[in-house]
Amino acid sequence: PTERTLAVIKPDTSEELREEILGEIRAAGFTISWQKEMVLSREMAEEFYKQHRDKPFFSQLVDYMCRGPCTMLILSKENAVEDWRKMMGPADPSKAKETAPGSLRARFAKDILENTVHGSSSSQHTQEKIQLVFGEISSESQVIST
Ligand code: CMP
Repeated sequence: PTERTLAVIKPDTSEELREEILGEIRAAGFTISWQKEMVLSREMAEEFYKQHRDKPFFSQLVDYMCRGPCTMLILSKENAVEDWRKMMGPADPSKAKETAPGSLRARFAKDILENTVHGSSSSQHTQEKIQLVFGEISSESQVIST
């Protein structure tokens, strides 16, 4: 069965790198069902990462996520949540370089905070984040391929 995940290409990603990442996403067999650019408000970034509210890096994370436009993506394929997380690699690029050298974060992340991409960790999170980012377009039946 087709599954969806919410993926984010984070701020400070060059146009060129963004296109490269989108190309790799398609080449890996994902359908980009929805795509939009947006600058998150602090309020939205805080809501998006609410499960990290008590972490010491929370305010830095919110600063980073609001610094410029994010590319928000709904990716669809079988096993999308897990496969996108594998493609990203671990959050910390120094760990990613050891354990998943081909992953996006191993190749492109600056550090554990500015780590280029995000992906939902479960179907439950996917639903919540899609609702938050894409609002009413999130009903299962609406899919537009790009
Ligand atoms: P992401 O997968 O989007 O989920 C939470 C984000 O918090 C993570 O990517 C990083 O951007 C950031 N993050 C996680 N751990 C740390 C850390 N130890 N220090 C700074 N930022 C972190």
